[in-house]
Amino acid sequence: MRDPDLRDRNMRDTYMRDTYMKKTFDDPTFIEQARQMPHIARVPAEMHIGGVRIAPATVLAPMAGVTDTVFRRFIKNASLFTTPDSKLKTENSERNEGAQDVDLETTNETSGCGLIMTEFTSADGLSRMRETKRKRYLTYYEDEHPISAQLFGSNPETLADSARICQDAGFDLVDLNLGCPAKRVVACNGGSGLLRDLPLIETIFKRVRAAVSIPFTVKFRMGWNDANIVCVELARLAEDCGLNAVALHARTRENGYSGNARWEYIAAVKDAVRLPVIGNGDIRSPEDAAAMVEATRCDAVMIGRAAPANPWIFRQIAQYTATKQVTGTGTYDKPTDMDRYRMIRDYFERLMHEVAEHPEVPGPAETDAEKRLKRDHESAQRDAIGRMKQFASWFTHGVPGGAVLRRDIFDAKRGAEVMDKVEAFFTTRAELPACDTMPEHTEELEAVSSAWG
Ligand SMILES: Cc1cc2nc3c(=O)[nH]c(=O)nc-3n(C[C@H](O)[C@H](O)[C@H](O)COP(=O)(O)O)c2cc1C
Repeated sequence: MRDPDLRDRNMRDTYMRDTYMKKTFDDPTFIEQARQMPHIARVPAEMHIGGVRIAPATVLAPMAGVTDTVFRRFIKNASLFTTPDSKLKTENSERNEGAQDVDLETTNETSGCGLIMTEFTSADGLSRMRETKRKRYLTYYEDEHPISAQLFGSNPETLADSARICQDAGFDLVDLNLGCPAKRVVACNGGSGLLRDLPLIETIFKRVRAAVSIPFTVKFRMGWNDANIVCVELARLAEDCGLNAVALHARTRENGYSGNARWEYIAAVKDAVRLPVIGNGDIRSPEDAAAMVEATRCDAVMIGRAAPANPWIFRQIAQYTATKQVTGTGTYDKPTDMDRYRMIRDYFERLMHEVAEHPEVPGPAETDAEKRLKRDHESAQRDAIGRMKQFASWFTHGVPGGAVLRRDIFDAKRGAEVMDKVEAFFTTRAELPACDTMPEHTEELEAVSSAWG
C-alpha cells in the first residue's frame, strides 16, 4: 500500500502547482470597481457558527503548503489591533510610529482574524495513520482557537471517521473541502470533483453530521463549470442536512483562478439559505472586504492569497471597520519597511523554533530511533528553509531591490543564511529615503510555485 503521507504530500504539491500556474489575480478594472462601491456595509463584528463565536467575522482561508500552525499563529499575531477607543492611526501617520505599533503587544487588544483553518487533510490518509503521525498532522496550539480542521475525500465513512478524529483532537469546527481543483484530488472524486455528484455529497453531509457534535461547515466552488452551477442547490442541501455554515469561493472548477470571482453567486447563496454564508474570492484590501459585504450581504469574509503577501490584512480590515464606525471614513495602517522586516524576522524565528522541536542528532545515526530523529530533523530543516524562501519572496515583492534579495536567497542552504541576507537587505533599505511600498502578490505567488514545484 502507498504511504498515505506521501500521497497527501503529492496531492498538496499538485494543488499548489495547479493553483499557482494560473496567472490572473490582478485585474485593475475589477479592483477599481470594487473600490468605487458605496461602502455602507462593514465587515460584521461577529458571527456564530453553531455555538462558536467568530469575532470579527473574518476567516483565514485554508491554503495547502501555507497555513500550517506557524503561519496561522503568525497571522493571528500580525492581526492584533487596537480597538476604536485606543489611538487609531491614519494612513498619514508617522512611519516609525507605525513600526512600533505593529510590534508592541501591550497596545494590541484583539486579533482582527476571527477564524483560522488548517490546510486540507486527506480523510483517507488520516483515518489510516498511526496515532503519532496523526498528532503531527493535527497539531495546533491553544492560542489558535477558534480553529477549523479541513478534510477532503469522497468516502462518507472515512470522512465521518476523520471528522470524529478532528473533534477528539479538540478542533472547534470541521470543514469539508469541495473546492480543490487539483487533478489528483479530483481524480479521486475529492475536492471540486464531488460537485458533479450531489447525491454523494448528501450522503457525506449526513454521515459526517451524525458523527460529530462540533459545527460542521463546507467550503465549495460554484460548480464544475458554467454549465453545471450548483452552489445554491448545494447550500440548500447543506442547510437541510444540518450543516452550520457555508463558504463559497465564487469560481467554478474550470475557472481555476482565472477571471474575477463572481460575487453575485455569493449573494445568490445568501438569498437562498438562513445559514451563515462566508464569501471568498479576490479580497485584497479592506476596501474589497467591505465591498464584498456590501455586494453580497455575506456574514463573513474569507481571505486567502492576500494574507501571505500582506499579513496585516486582517488587522487593516479591523482598523478600517472600526475607524469607519467612529469617523465615517475608513483608515488603516500601512506597513513601513521596518514593519516588514520585523514581520519577516518574527516569522523566521517561529519557523526556527519549530525546527528546534526536532533536534539534530550529533554524529552518524546508528539505531533506528536515531535514524528517524535524523530524518525528522532534516525534513523540518528543509521545510523551514523552503518556507523562509517562499515568504521572503512574497514579502519583498514590490519593495525596490526585492528581486536582488530573492535571487540572493534562492541558493541559501541554512535558515541563518537566509536570515542574514534578509537582515542585510533591510539594513540597506533603512539607509534609503522612505517610500510607500506595498507588496504585490500575484507574480510572487507564481514565482513561489516553481520553488514549491
Ligand atoms: C496555495 C493555495 C493553496 C490552497 N489550498 C486550499 C486548501 O487546502 N483548501 C481549500 O479549501 N482551499 C484551498 N485554496 C483555495 C483558497 O482557500 C481560496 O479559496 C482561494 O485562494 C480564493 O481566495 P482568495 O482570492 O482570497 O485567494 C488554496 C489556494 C492557494 C492559493
